[in-house]
Amino acid sequence: MRYSLPLITPALALTSILPTATSLVIGPFEQRPYEQQHWFETRQQKSQRPDTSRLAASLVIDTFQTPLHNDLGFWHGTGENLTFQHEPGSMRLFPTDPDQNFHTQFNSHTCFSLSPWRDQYLHVVFEGNEDFTVSLNEHNAECNPARAPFPGVPDSVQASRYVMRTRSWDPDDGSNDWDDDWKLGKQRRPLKHRLKNDTRNGGRQRPAWSKRSELFIPLSHFRVNHERLVSVSFTGFYTDEPLTLYRVEIVPDVPGPSSWNNYFHVPKKLPTGQLILRCSRPNSFAFGIDDGQPEYAQEVMRILDEENVRVTFFAVATGLRDRTTNFTRFYREMLRKGHQVALHSNTHPKMEALPTLREIDEEIIQSIRTLQDQLDIHSRYFRPPFGTVGVRLRQQLAQYIDDPYVVNWSVDVEDWLWENSTTPERQLDAFYRDVARGGNLAVMHYLNPITVGYLRHFIRHVKSLGLNIMRVDQCLEDPNSPAL
Ligand SMILES: *[C@@H]1O[C@H](CO)[C@@H](O)[C@H](O)[C@H]1NC(C)=O
Ligand SMILES: *[C@@H]1O[C@H](CO)[C@@H](O)[C@H](O)[C@H]1NC(C)=O
Ligand SMILES: *[C@@H]1O[C@H](CO)[C@@H](O)[C@H](O)[C@H]1NC(C)=O
Ligand SMILES: *[C@@H]1O[C@H](CO)[C@@H](O)[C@H](O)[C@H]1NC(C)=O
Ligand SMILES: *[C@@H]1O[C@H](CO)[C@@H](O)[C@H](O)[C@H]1NC(C)=O
Ligand SMILES: [Zn+2]
Repeated sequence: MRYSLPLITPALALTSILPTATSLVIGPFEQRPYEQQHWFETRQQKSQRPDTSRLAASLVIDTFQTPLHNDLGFWHGTGENLTFQHEPGSMRLFPTDPDQNFHTQFNSHTCFSLSPWRDQYLHVVFEGNEDFTVSLNEHNAECNPARAPFPGVPDSVQASRYVMRTRSWDPDDGSNDWDDDWKLGKQRRPLKHRLKNDTRNGGRQRPAWSKRSELFIPLSHFRVNHERLVSVSFTGFYTDEPLTLYRVEIVPDVPGPSSWNNYFHVPKKLPTGQLILRCSRPNSFAFGIDDGQPEYAQEVMRILDEENVRVTFFAVATGLRDRTTNFTRFYREMLRKGHQVALHSNTHPKMEALPTLREIDEEIIQSIRTLQDQLDIHSRYFRPPFGTVGVRLRQQLAQYIDDPYVVNWSVDVEDWLWENSTTPERQLDAFYRDVARGGNLAVMHYLNPITVGYLRHFIRHVKSLGLNIMRVDQCLEDPNSPAL
């Protein structure tokens, strides 16, 4: 059964596709703006409000019983066109791209507080792909999904680091060691026992869950505002092995180290780059201008001079090293004029899609080196090509840059979508729309003369709202940024 999610109303969803033992729901869902997605759906069963008074108890978020809702009664589904297959009790994802995302929501309307569980662990039972990122998605300050940005992902963690590697259990080899561990008086009953209740294969046979993996992530490892959460998500896929999710929950503790789990210890948190979607300084607005065509550079400079505003340029290193572009002279002049120039990779790949850490490192190192060699600058500001951000990029950046900022945006002029279309003016609509929603950190390029022409309109619109245009480091109140 194939369908597009937005065509199914919640009521229909419950009556016509309520899963039975045989029902399968298969994606991909069409990509829609967030407000048309099920982010905004009302909860199905109000009575299932999580009971925060029983703190010791687990919070079961999702056991994938129905295709559209989790155990809290809120929506789960894909934020991009990620193909999936639902069966009661599991959700299989077929990722092809690190931007793809599967969310399971705490609440679609307002901020959800995980503070009562702050010292506990996110526990996920899954099978297959371990090459992904786990995120806790944050709401905006207004707790209003109609405002930008929504949702935000200030921090995330690498799934594979937190996987508890249990001894493979093959009943044919006659070993049943973890059971003995338990009988020998190990403190905690192994989790496999708790999960083990799949009688479909009958008593002694290999149970269906035996290939399942589990991961345990301390909630404190997510540098997010635990008062203001929206969803748990699985994203940043860099291999295309399917991932099957069985259970997502918060649990009070992890199984103690023993032979059956290869003496599992929760790893230490690794430093990560913080993702930035908006300016923090009151009344500020920043333009982050990415790669462009050399032929439009002087025109961009002229507009910025005439409008007397400072911006941040995110420069691709290969372009800077290519003398025929004149970019080194251009950006040197922009630096003299008080603009900021920052990192935007070496060759502009989707970095999280790169198969090895070595390749991610190479992009970062060359990018840092080129800004140093060509422009004599160091920057902790990195704009990810295509806005693609996963945990490996965040971690590797933090290996080379002290407390890096990964600068996404909350205003997208959508030049990549409209500039070569028959309706380039939709870039203006996109800009006005995102600013009206509260976005204040923009992304644009200078690849097309029409887009460059709109820059003046963008600037004047922001000025007309009484906002102050400044560099990204200034709008983030970075103490090392130049005074306004
Ligand atoms: C969505 O799927 C189409 C067709 O498979 C693909 O060309 C496109 O890149 C995908 N978009 C995203 C955002 O993954
Ligand atoms: C396991 O499943 C059986 C049959 O569905 C049920 O009777 C039993 O109570 C379950 N045991 C546990 C520990 O959940
Ligand atoms: C190269 O950039 C410099 C600095 O902006 C500018 O003065 C010069 O005219 C540019 N040269 C060309 C050929 O565009
Ligand atoms: C960064 O922005 C892009 C484009 O809007 C978006 O697809 C992506 O989800 C954002 N990344 C994060 C981690 O918010
Ligand atoms: C639009 O066309 C120009 C000129 O061919 C090209 O340089 C630019 O990359 C195109 N923009 C997009 C978003 O594809
Ligand atoms: Zn770019």
